[in-house]
Amino acid sequence: MYLHPQYELLSRSELEYLQQERLQATLKQCMNSSFYRERFRKCGLSVSDIKTPEDITKLPFTTKQDLRDNYPFGLSCVPLDKVVRLHSSSGTTGTPTVILHTARDLEEWAKAVARCLYMVGLRSGDIFQNSSGYGMFTGGLGFQYGAEHLGMLTVPAAAGNTRRQIKFITDFGTTALHAIPSYAGRLYEVMVEMGLDPRRDTSLRTLIIGAEPHSEEQRRRIESMLGVKAYNSFGMSEMCGPGVAFECTEQNGLHIWEDYYIVEILNPETLEPVAEGEVGELVLTTINREAMPLLRYRTRDLTRFLPGECPCGRKHRRLDRMKGRSDDMMILKGVNIFPVQIETVLMQFEELGNDYLITLTNEQANDLMTVEVELKEFTDNYPKLQSLTREITSRLKDEILITPQVRLVPKGTLPQSEGKAVRVKDLRKTLI
Ligand code: COA
Ligand code: AMP
Ligand code: ZN
Repeated sequence: MYLHPQYELLSRSELEYLQQERLQATLKQCMNSSFYRERFRKCGLSVSDIKTPEDITKLPFTTKQDLRDNYPFGLSCVPLDKVVRLHSSSGTTGTPTVILHTARDLEEWAKAVARCLYMVGLRSGDIFQNSSGYGMFTGGLGFQYGAEHLGMLTVPAAAGNTRRQIKFITDFGTTALHAIPSYAGRLYEVMVEMGLDPRRDTSLRTLIIGAEPHSEEQRRRIESMLGVKAYNSFGMSEMCGPGVAFECTEQNGLHIWEDYYIVEILNPETLEPVAEGEVGELVLTTINREAMPLLRYRTRDLTRFLPGECPCGRKHRRLDRMKGRSDDMMILKGVNIFPVQIETVLMQFEELGNDYLITLTNEQANDLMTVEVELKEFTDNYPKLQSLTREITSRLKDEILITPQVRLVPKGTLPQSEGKAVRVKDLRKTLI
């Protein structure tokens, strides 16, 4: 039941002692980077001022903007010849971020993911299929190495091509699948179209779902349609990727691995701790990373600590499923998108005016983004409009990695709102 009992079963005081030791080592590591040295200098802090995990509140926050401002290697705490991998977010308009890993970081990441998978009963002998994008998406290589670490037969199917995905599931006897919740719905629909009954015609037993917010109701539906147990998996590229917090077989919230992270939940406005059990922004400090430790990183994800002890015996605290974000990031098809990325692309076209509207829908279990944007001047030159639409679509796809539907509309026809312009309408419904 426990892959790492020596860490998973630590008492609270043992965990805090370990955090203290690892925090000290992390702070020393941070002093290898001019970014953190300068931060500490500005706050008049030295490493010796931070003795216990509680002292962490003396430290300044690290934000996504810091990662952007120091793109690509500015936060590295090791010489670049010790870095063996980088992952980068999407975006070419000045928004990308980079996360660096040493060989040890990758090993620790694989172990964390393996611990999660083991916790929900997966073992060597299972056949693990991953429908995440590989490459820069950390759900790809993250689960790949974690599953291999456990000795499972892995099927790196990657995103898309749903019929082939299903053929792999039936031909190889896939028992465990990682899929984002909205894509699980698509898989079910296509299985039915192919005349398959997922409960009867597949060996699927376990689904790992995460990467986007979903409700308890959605999980139960996925479970009943596919005939599986589905476990919520939470992670983010800045913290490596998957393997940050995961449900155990009790399915009562996500254990966050406190031997890897010091966890705070803060009011996003005041940045003070919220009252016990209240929702706030998750702020994480990595304490088991070499290349790019992050101190008090503002994840922008909103959640709360769940009260009480878990019957599974682990003392690592449990987070409630994510309640949303404290910024305007959208997640579509497992891809994170900021409205400003879209605006920046649109504003590069001199034919376009300033008004635009992004609408998110999910007809036929496939998320869709429609971008309506006004033309500066009226034209009925259809070939020109068509080629402009194609060009905008392609530039947007380069930026946000999904294909939006672009509609050019006459000036003044987009709905006007009083006060701050409404740029995003999320009309997605739970379909399954
Ligand atoms: N995971 C896996 N496949 C997905 C998906 C997802 N999150 N979202 C959509 N798809 C499938 C679609 O169903 C479609 O396949 P099908 O027509 O055979 O059913 C195919 O991908 C292309 O989708 P489409 O909507 O036409 O393409 P797009 O250009 O808008 O998006 C994707 C391209 C899907 C490749 C891109 O959104 C992607 O890579 N998503 C995965 C992101 C990911 O892995 N995130 C990390 C999770 S930890
Ligand atoms: P990425 O860096 O691409 O892995 O995306 C990380 C973001 O995806 C997180 O900051 C969350 O906003 C979101 N996310 C990841 N896992 C979950 C989950 N289980 N539930 C809700 N949102 C999630
Ligand atoms: Zn538990």
